[in-house]
Amino acid sequence: MTETISKGAANQTGAVINKDAYAEAKDFLPLNGLDHVEFWVGNARQAAAYYRALWGFTPIAYAGLETGVRDRASYVLRQNDITLVVTAPLTPEGEIAEHVRKHGDGVKDIAFSVDDAASAWRETTDRGARSVMEPRELDGGEDGTLRRSAVATYGEVRHSFVDRRDYHGVFAPGYRKIKKPARAAGGMSLLEIDHCVGNVELGDMNRFVDYYRDVFGFAQLIHYDDKVIHTEYSALMSKVMTNGNGRIKFPINEPATGKKKSQIQEFLDWYLDSGTQHIALRTEDIVGTISRLRENGVEFLGLPHAYYETLANRVGDVGVPIETLEALGIEADRDEEGYLLQIFTRPIQDRPTFFFEIIERHGSRGFGVGNFKALFEAIELEQARRGNL
Ligand code: FE2
Repeated sequence: MTETISKGAANQTGAVINKDAYAEAKDFLPLNGLDHVEFWVGNARQAAAYYRALWGFTPIAYAGLETGVRDRASYVLRQNDITLVVTAPLTPEGEIAEHVRKHGDGVKDIAFSVDDAASAWRETTDRGARSVMEPRELDGGEDGTLRRSAVATYGEVRHSFVDRRDYHGVFAPGYRKIKKPARAAGGMSLLEIDHCVGNVELGDMNRFVDYYRDVFGFAQLIHYDDKVIHTEYSALMSKVMTNGNGRIKFPINEPATGKKKSQIQEFLDWYLDSGTQHIALRTEDIVGTISRLRENGVEFLGLPHAYYETLANRVGDVGVPIETLEALGIEADRDEEGYLLQIFTRPIQDRPTFFFEIIERHGSRGFGVGNFKALFEAIELEQARRGNL
């Protein structure tokens, strides 16, 4: 890959890209990639139907009363390499009910795939991670044994380590396969999780950047300061951490002071904690995928016509007519390595907290910094409608 920016130098957008990030990352764990993301929600059955009927995910496994689980119901949903789990409490007591009462629906676990859950737990807790689950072996009978452990990160989010080498069942012991799932919506092509973004309190960004470096061996890929990401009213700062094989990318945001409330602060005010702000799903057919998602009723942030009037000058040819991008609300950005197409949903639950991004990459490893200003202005319009600006 061509590198035209020297280490630590700011490009014309003001983003500082570290071209040595992958070499600097120390994969002592190592992490193979993301195993799944688990959401704790108020109603797992309906959340599963939402992901199936609107987003094209197939429900593949279930755990609940019928499988001998008494305190929760979980559905596992899959599309290509993306595995989502939605879990709801069955009783008013316990950590899931407590979590949903406080935060509303949200991300609880960003789980890593590892070859050895015990050593990943030992390596990270030795380096200062707080344990939330000591290594354990889950007996799946003839399906084999699943090994897992977990440590804490920002807010109440955790990172599980999942070792599936000796397990051949559908998801995990305690789950049963959904043999005849209702038909998932067609025409979508969501391939894998591209990145997961954490929002942390003012002053905490560097603490969690250090945490991912020291505990997980990640390196910093990009730094966007508040001079880059700001509008007249609000701003944020962001650093992107990545692991050695580049499969895991975690931007960490903190609010910066502006004349009015940053969108990061709005998230923190309604989630009542640090938490996962958005997850980007990678596609190689953003036009077809967004067309279908819109037909199915998924709502996206809209950008003003003015954004598209200047877009061609800014990004050149991106393989899709500007009119098509505008009709679907897709944004484009270009950097030294190539370009990307992206779009953001509105928050997917009642509180203005978690949302999804869909991204199609053509060489660019960036995050669409050229869009941030236009995007923030669009978000601020919606914040103002909610009385939160
Ligand atoms: Fe993103």
